[in-house]
Amino acid sequence: MPPEASGPQLPASVASASHPPGFSGSRFFDVAIVGGGVIGCSVAYHAARRGASVALFEADRISSGASGAAAGMLNAQAESHEPGPMLDLMVESRRMHETFSERLREETGLDPEYVRAGTLRVATDEAFAEKLAGAYSWQKEEGLSVEWLDADEARDLEPGLSPETLAALYFPEEGQVNSPRLVKSLALAATKMGADIFEHAPVFGFLAENGRVAGVRAPGGDINAGSVVLAGGAASGRLAAELGVELPVSPVKGEILSVEARRAPISANVWDDACYLVAKRDGRIVVGATEEVGVYDRRPTLGGVARLSSAASKLIPEMAGCPFVSAWGGLRPGTPDGAPIIGHAEGWDNLLIATGHYRNGVLLAPVTGEAVSALALGEESAVDVSPFSHRRIMEAAGL
Ligand code: FAD
Ligand code: GLY
Repeated sequence: MPPEASGPQLPASVASASHPPGFSGSRFFDVAIVGGGVIGCSVAYHAARRGASVALFEADRISSGASGAAAGMLNAQAESHEPGPMLDLMVESRRMHETFSERLREETGLDPEYVRAGTLRVATDEAFAEKLAGAYSWQKEEGLSVEWLDADEARDLEPGLSPETLAALYFPEEGQVNSPRLVKSLALAATKMGADIFEHAPVFGFLAENGRVAGVRAPGGDINAGSVVLAGGAASGRLAAELGVELPVSPVKGEILSVEARRAPISANVWDDACYLVAKRDGRIVVGATEEVGVYDRRPTLGGVARLSSAASKLIPEMAGCPFVSAWGGLRPGTPDGAPIIGHAEGWDNLLIATGHYRNGVLLAPVTGEAVSALALGEESAVDVSPFSHRRIMEAAGL
């Protein structure tokens, strides 16, 4: 488990193991949300800000899924392979994070710990240096902020880097947050605006007829809703199947670990082709992450920890002397084309999908929350999410 899981908890008044006293089981909400990860909580937050009545159901605890496992990097550019709508969405969401965290801290007292110290992609062999050179040229052409560093320049920025460093790309506008804290502060802010958040409350069915979802079936009874948002992360496909909706979302397991940072200080997110290192404000460095498609068991393995430890010590040799803190795993919600599914479910009036954010759900939480809350309330989304439609996934699958 990531250490933050045992950190600040939601106040008892925010989360309940069952429906709160007085809950009749027949209440109507403008928006019902399934899933209490960073995406569901961001939708809840934005919908509550729009004045909607909101109920969010989380099967386990808020942030117990991929969002609680994430390194929290905000890598709009470093995670992008080409120009296009996905890059634009990521850059827009990265921009939103700057004020998002500050506002949440003011609203809740729980700081998501936004830091903008850039991301450094490091090459220790010619083949990877060539890849970075390719990324440098298309990103420069796009007018994005990116710097090419030779080995000495890279080590000036991060003195602990291995002597094998050949070159690096620096993305100064990238940053990071503490993902579990971000989720909790979103949930807390949403409840302060009147949202009801139910933990240990798995949605096990839907009330549906004639292409409309009237509500959800949850442990304390049925809930009626104007719109229903599916934000169940890697489990979203199984949930959608309850309604006969095809949603090709499958788990991409990631293992990740943390060490005490004392012996190997870094400031940027440092990332070669084998692992990334992210310095957290609490004095840890997080080392991530493995990728395994289709694996549901999220527990870390000896092999995963060994691979990450060895890669981290190669990237910054002093990492080998850092005391080990913990290892954990999470299931990224993957899609066939690697892009999220944001918007109406094909053929359904009031069923919204907000999932499939794969490696970038933390980054994409503000923009997804903003867009999906608008759509769920029958408003126009200020951000164009049409390239991320459910329809495009269905068409690609020939459905
Ligand atoms: P989740 O956080 O998985 O939330 C879905 C929730 O739905 C879960 O809590 C689950 O319990 C709940 N649920 C499921 N079924 C039901 C049901 N029937 N009823 C009620 N609730 C239900 N992204 C970044 O942007 N930056 C990073 O640096 C980064 N690092 C990562 C590192 C690792 C190791 C991993 C695994 C992921 C990382 N990601 C990162 C990706 C990011 O974590 C995900 O994209 C994001 O967390 C997805 O959020 P989500 O809310 O869709 O899913
Ligand atoms: N974005 C980092 C990861 O998914 O591991």
